[in-house]
Amino acid sequence: MSGGLRDLPVDMLTSEEAEAELAALVAEIGAHDEHYYQNDTPVITDAEYDALRLRNEAIEIRFPLLVRPDSPTRRVGAAPAAGFAKVTHARPMLSLGNAFDEEDVREFIARIRRFLGLTEEQAIDIVAEPKIDGLSISLRYEKGRLVQGATRGDGATGEDVTTNLMTMPDSELPKKLADDAPDILEVRGEVYMSKSEFLALNTRQEEKGAKIFANPRNAAAGSLRQKDSSVTARRPLHFFAYAWGEASDPIAQTQWEAIRRFEGWGFKVNPLARLCADVEGLLSLYAEVAANRGRLDYDIDGVVYKVNRLDWQERLGQVSRAPRWAIAHKFPAEKAITVLKAISIQVGRTGVLTPVADLEPVTVGGVVVSRATLHNADYIRDKDIRIGDTVVVQRAGDVIPQVVEVVADKRPQGAAPFAFPDRCPVCDSHAQREDGEAATRCTGGLICEAQMVERLKHFVSRDAFDIEGLGGKHIDTFHEEGLIKTPADIFRLRERRDEIAGREGWGEKSADNLLRALEERRSISLDRFIYALGIRQVGRATARLLAKQYMTYDAWARGMRDAAIHGGEAYEELINIDGVGPSVAGDLIAFMAEPHNRDVLDQLVREVAVEDFEAPAASGSPVDGRTVVFTGTLETITRNEAKARAETMGAKVSGSVSGRTDYVVAGADAGSKLKKAQELGVTVLSEEEWLNLIGG
Ligand code: IVH
Repeated sequence: MSGGLRDLPVDMLTSEEAEAELAALVAEIGAHDEHYYQNDTPVITDAEYDALRLRNEAIEIRFPLLVRPDSPTRRVGAAPAAGFAKVTHARPMLSLGNAFDEEDVREFIARIRRFLGLTEEQAIDIVAEPKIDGLSISLRYEKGRLVQGATRGDGATGEDVTTNLMTMPDSELPKKLADDAPDILEVRGEVYMSKSEFLALNTRQEEKGAKIFANPRNAAAGSLRQKDSSVTARRPLHFFAYAWGEASDPIAQTQWEAIRRFEGWGFKVNPLARLCADVEGLLSLYAEVAANRGRLDYDIDGVVYKVNRLDWQERLGQVSRAPRWAIAHKFPAEKAITVLKAISIQVGRTGVLTPVADLEPVTVGGVVVSRATLHNADYIRDKDIRIGDTVVVQRAGDVIPQVVEVVADKRPQGAAPFAFPDRCPVCDSHAQREDGEAATRCTGGLICEAQMVERLKHFVSRDAFDIEGLGGKHIDTFHEEGLIKTPADIFRLRERRDEIAGREGWGEKSADNLLRALEERRSISLDRFIYALGIRQVGRATARLLAKQYMTYDAWARGMRDAAIHGGEAYEELINIDGVGPSVAGDLIAFMAEPHNRDVLDQLVREVAVEDFEAPAASGSPVDGRTVVFTGTLETITRNEAKARAETMGAKVSGSVSGRTDYVVAGADAGSKLKKAQELGVTVLSEEEWLNLIGG
């Protein structure tokens, strides 16, 4: 699509623009899917493709009402994430047609009757079961052993996520089937995360400043598509079996019988499934499931009806990618109407002011909602949301409630447009919006108590200092009571042991446990240390890149200070780190330029020992410690994969060529970087030479 819109931050889009862009993105992503899956010839890099999908997703999160039925996010897993091998499904994984009302369901049955030439008297047994809102996967068993697990992808080709699936417990995903299983069997079903586990995961993610998932489905998908399967292992994933692909012997004569066999092999099957004899039976199960939807601990978005007799399924076959023998009867979106009592403002770790709606409590799909996000100032302005308004609340993706619309004719007299605060509600510092950003930020920085507390929480979180027994709640109270103000205070708590032991809910033992946990963390790796500081835009990956580049705390701290001179050598070194760039560099420099931060750092390094960065065990690797630049189009692997491999072998991958570069790997159509390498006399390797060098 034409550049224009794509360059606008999502938060600045009007709903018309968003709608237009979503339409364009569907077409564009669809075209790339085709290049990738059908023709096997991607025309953009994986990263560019991922960026398109992320953009689409971000727009949808902001404009939930504009989500298109053909949206790429509805086709979970279709993204060819770098790093996962492709798997061609032995039998395609089909999608389902939709029914939205009783009429559609009757027509579905009538169509089957017509197609098979059945009379009105002949019963058509149908299996009805909830449609789980997770991601579908196919599990391939050979001689009873699980040999491969793949996502659905586009239905024809998915991603190989075997390693990650293997981390799921046997009770959710049997690795071995009993002897009566066919030699070759593909069991299909839905991987999902429960609503309660999803909420708990997000709380943990929030505490450590990590990615927050929009809904359980995204959380499940994100967990399954992890590069590091130990992350997947820690995520609570479940599986319901409901279909199958290739089978070397028939497994049943009916759908119902097949489900029973899955059960016999140790799979979980949905307990609400029912065998119905007519449309009335289907509709009554639908009503029952809809009524209980809010009480289920997993998201469902409808009920699936499937012809029970497999010989009939066979005869009915499929139209395009959906079977004629099955249909999804969808639930209407969960919405409710209530009154907006007030708008409160939350202040996050980096000072972002998030408006939150205080609502007259209302049940939305079985869950009582009294607060909902209003995202940011633009959202409130675009939708003209005012205090006192009657509003439509929606639980998008079934969990995060949002105010999506105002009921205009119910506006009370005198309701005024919401004036977004220009001061921080916590510290009263000026709140400011930077050009091109949707977020309004408190400029109080380190004097803002809210930011301080959020930063402390981040500091002790799992991926940072990981201090056991010191959770968000403790930080709140310790901070409130003046026990800790800065990170260094946490490590000085041992001087206040008796005070802690004497606190309500504490005691000698728990105080000692906490102090012991603190002692265990007095030594920390450089990357965790940098991440723990909670610098804007510096997540785990960036912290790691920095640690790798600078190797020691002193070198890093000096580097950040010296980088303040734009265009200087230290600045160049910083922005040349592949994955850093000027914007992140700006935040790092700003952090270090702040005297208070320097003070906090000085105090902190007196309390803790920051270990020098240890490159992953790659010694002996011919590229260990070398700086490599990839340029041009590589043929046998993607740029991302090449980069990842180089890094696991101990190389540093940089985005630009300089005198420090050891190798430039030039693929097809390499341009200015190749030229610069030649000018500087840097060794230039072809893709093949590079692969030979790293041994494969
Ligand atoms: S049956 C040929 N049953 O819905 C039929 N699908 O829109 C294959 N889904 O990709 C699907 N719960 O991810 C079936 N009980 C269920 C389901 C279910 C969820 C998903 C599945 C599929 C999508 C189709």
